[in-house]
Amino acid sequence: MFRIQHYFMIGSSVFLLLLLPLMIIALKRHERSATPRLAIIQDMDKMPYLKPQRKSDLFADTRGMRPHIAGTLAREDFIYINQAETQLHPNNWAATHVVLNSKMQYEKVLYGQVLRDGQGDWVKAIPIHVTPEFVNRGQQKFDVYCGPCHGDNGRGNGLVNQYVAQLRTEGSPDAGTWVQPTDLTSPAVKYMPDGQIYGVITNGIAAMAAYKDQIPVVDRWAIVAYVRALELAAAPVPASKLPAQDRPPEPTGKVAKVATDGMQVAAATSQEQKQ
Ligand code: HEC
Repeated sequence: MFRIQHYFMIGSSVFLLLLLPLMIIALKRHERSATPRLAIIQDMDKMPYLKPQRKSDLFADTRGMRPHIAGTLAREDFIYINQAETQLHPNNWAATHVVLNSKMQYEKVLYGQVLRDGQGDWVKAIPIHVTPEFVNRGQQKFDVYCGPCHGDNGRGNGLVNQYVAQLRTEGSPDAGTWVQPTDLTSPAVKYMPDGQIYGVITNGIAAMAAYKDQIPVVDRWAIVAYVRALELAAAPVPASKLPAQDRPPEPTGKVAKVATDGMQVAAATSQEQKQ
């Protein structure tokens, strides 16, 4: 009798001791820690990677930062956050609105042009599906990159311009040779093809610098969409009410139709504002 109890006690303590590692593992799996966990099997946890501005012997020219390959686009250029969707799924980066299903579509999106015999024709309408979120995205980026010069309303009198005007009245030489930014709601821009505005953002023009290194492709198009919204807000007249000679060229084809939808959204918004 005594012996059986004895064995039972030893057996159960051994059993409990055996459970201990499992309990520690379970605990560690739930714990949070600032130090990286012990990795017995490394997998790809630790890898050599290139730091910005550093040298790399992997490439013949030893440049760690690789230049763009001509005629290609970085994947990030096509990614913009669809705000409506990201609110539901914080990790959902939606690039679904950009379709590159042909060389021509690719050129339209990348260059804002259709190339024919080395000559570029500006695309008339934004070659990306325009949604209200897309226009909102454009507004955010416009306010950051264009507003300081062109003004948040696009009329060409942003803070920088106001500051230079003040310097001029004071007769300060710091005013330099500043050129007043163009009024983006003026007919000159209003009747520009969408692709040409995209081109101005991409390559700059005269006194305005290029923004292709700061603003990804899709965001540039979003800004174009917002410039159109600003124009509609400045003069909320439907195109059909304009005299024939003042109407923008009739959009054609599938790509153009999509962009027309966007214009209607913007038109509807500005009409709401009017009421
Ligand atoms: C540093 C100030 C500055 C910023 C920032 C700026 N622009 Fe400009 N922009 C100018 C000036 C100045 C001109 C007039 C250029 C000229 O005629 O010399 C201009 C001209 C333009 C034109 C008319 C081009 C033409 O062919 O007449 C458009 C369209 C335009 N800008 C769009 C934009 C957009 C969109 C952004 C934001 C991505 C932007 N600009 C950011 C200063 C700026």
